[in-house]
Amino acid sequence: MRHLMSPMDFSVEELEKLMDLAQDISADPAKYAHKCDGRILATCFYEPSTRTRLSFESAMLRLGGQVLGFATADSSSAAKGESVSDTIRIISSYADICAMRHPKEGAPMVAAQKSWIPVINAGDGGHQHPTQTLTDLMTIRSLKGSLSDMTIGLCGDLKFGRTVHSLINALCRYENVSFIFISPPELKIPDYIREDVLIRNNIPFKEVIKLDDVMPELDILYMTRVQRERFFNEEDYVRLKDFYILNKEKMALAKSDMMVLHPLPRVNEISVEVDDDERAMYFKQVKYGMYIRMALILTLLEIE
Ligand code: CP
Repeated sequence: MRHLMSPMDFSVEELEKLMDLAQDISADPAKYAHKCDGRILATCFYEPSTRTRLSFESAMLRLGGQVLGFATADSSSAAKGESVSDTIRIISSYADICAMRHPKEGAPMVAAQKSWIPVINAGDGGHQHPTQTLTDLMTIRSLKGSLSDMTIGLCGDLKFGRTVHSLINALCRYENVSFIFISPPELKIPDYIREDVLIRNNIPFKEVIKLDDVMPELDILYMTRVQRERFFNEEDYVRLKDFYILNKEKMALAKSDMMVLHPLPRVNEISVEVDDDERAMYFKQVKYGMYIRMALILTLLEIE
């Protein structure tokens, strides 16, 4: 039995197979409409979500399966003090596979250790968000044709943004990828990403504060929201929340084929005027997320 805790749980070859499967599903959804007949997905979300939870549910329903679960910790027995370890043992009796989001780093890993069904990390605190990374990789591969030979700028809250941490880990395995990290000093990438992932693997990167200066260099700009829920005080959040706002003027500095991605939800960091720019891909990105989750469910359930 296999779980998904980090994008590194899959080799590059396995990721290619997963993306190929997602592509095939998107091309011919009818072929897959009954692959999960009789199977049940549990979505156990201890933290708010729109895309991840609903795309998992949509993915399972489109595969012919069914879904159950909870969308808030308050509506589960976690509110009465039940541990994640106990909850997953219960869920294992009701469902065939579980997607779990939790505010505490490592909680889905704890669940996986006690589970009798595959567990998918649907986001754990400020740590990892592997299925968003699968979505991002699928989007880049589909729209750029490759995951190699590019300069990717990650902008915003690089300290708490779990999608950023997972994506850096995953992209380091491709040829000729370099990073430009754009953040205020307080929200720089964590030391373990800088030391253990980038420096250890000789990955070229630089860290800057101003977005305008590096816009012309980027093949992809990955914008992120300042993660209000991870701040210790509201004052710091208010000071930093509008540090970056991508607008038409900034887009004019970029390459004509640069692609703007964002895991969403967006707050103010991308002005709505950018939505009509043909380089804005963040709403397309959402659809890839559903197909890759369909492929992931089939793969973890070992359905041919
Ligand atoms: N991208 C993402 O994780 O969105 P949700 O928080 O809405 O699931």
